[in-house]
Amino acid sequence: MYDYLIVGTGLFGAIFAHEAIKCEKKCLIIDKRDHLGGNIYTENIEGINVHKYGAHIFHTSDERIWNYLNQFVEFNGYTNSPIANYRGEIYNLPFNMNTFNKLWGVITPQEAKEKIELQKKEAGIKEPRNLEEQAISLVGVDIYQKLIKGYTEKQWGRAAKDLPSFIINRIPVRFNYDNNYFNDKFQGIPIGGYNLIIEKMLEGCEVRLNTDFFSNRKELEGLARKTVFTGMIDQYYDYKFGLLEYRSLDFQTEVIKENDNYQGNAVVNYTDRETPYTRIIEHKHFEFGTQKGTVISKEFPSEWKNGCEPYYPINDQRNNELYRQYKVLADSEQNVIFGGRLGTYKYYDMHQVIASALVTVEKELGVEILNEK
Ligand code: FDA
Repeated sequence: MYDYLIVGTGLFGAIFAHEAIKCEKKCLIIDKRDHLGGNIYTENIEGINVHKYGAHIFHTSDERIWNYLNQFVEFNGYTNSPIANYRGEIYNLPFNMNTFNKLWGVITPQEAKEKIELQKKEAGIKEPRNLEEQAISLVGVDIYQKLIKGYTEKQWGRAAKDLPSFIINRIPVRFNYDNNYFNDKFQGIPIGGYNLIIEKMLEGCEVRLNTDFFSNRKELEGLARKTVFTGMIDQYYDYKFGLLEYRSLDFQTEVIKENDNYQGNAVVNYTDRETPYTRIIEHKHFEFGTQKGTVISKEFPSEWKNGCEPYYPINDQRNNELYRQYKVLADSEQNVIFGGRLGTYKYYDMHQVIASALVTVEKELGVEILNEK
């Protein structure tokens, strides 16, 4: 008999398994996919680690989380500095002095602030009624038109005028020439790739791939005293209150053998409305790759239907209310622990899911990990 059946080999499941095994618990971890790692998995194509489920850049300001991951891998010092391509015009992101100089020719922070203030004033929006008005009221019309509108409309599959204003509470604007996207103290890509983290976490753990919990639920549940479930919470309860909704993505990946540098940057956002994809990722740049060819992935946002890959939870009122109902059931379970992005219907960055897994483990196993010396 196992102590834990862990459903899902993503970060949440792998951390739980790793720590439970350290406490001499017997674990079986399963995944319906044919590989470990959940969405941080990379596929080796032509010697390049391809981020199969979307670009993943690790970042955190929490030194404890950073130290925790550094037990398994070192990081390569990669700094995320995405570029925006608006109809062939190139802008630096996040919005900073380089962006403002390119947009308006301004040189000093004072000039940039005045330009933005002027545009906000000209727009004259007092109470934004939708995302478009909200964005213009925060950064003015130029940044909105060239760098926000098209991208956001593609992402959500709807006109910005039809999207609620709360989606954009804040637009980070920097009045310096810093192109580093994240404000965090630590960031990077693991040397050797993300797969290495999960493989190391799961050393000594019994793993079954290509194993869907729901195809053999009774038998699998019978194998362990407790289940740690990181799949979709609504599916666990047979969708009894209804389906939780997501946004999905399709990736079109191309191997380009005759070109070793397609776009000169790992991430280029296409911010016009007409280009059907939102981003092109050139994977080798995450690891300063010197391979002969290159691999790129175009990212197309798509409607989610049950059966498609669920990427981003839609935390609107309807879905949050639905989740609340499932959570009441989950909280009353004695022998099931729900975790991870699908088990708690929450968008987590990697550092957040790691923190959440460690807190869960600490509570479940009565150990101290995050604050141990
Ligand atoms: P994850 O989805 O990774 O793992 C769940 C696992 O459970 C999967 O392997 C799945 O196959 C398995 N499973 C589900 N149902 C099952 C069933 N019925 N039976 C068996 N197995 C089942 N974060 C960040 O910090 N920096 C970044 O740059 C990005 N980028 C990014 C891009 C995109 C497009 C997305 C959607 C997300 C990111 N993230 C990110 C977030 C990151 O992907 C996320 O924090 C972790 O992958 C979450 O790990 P989990 O273990 O929760 O889920």
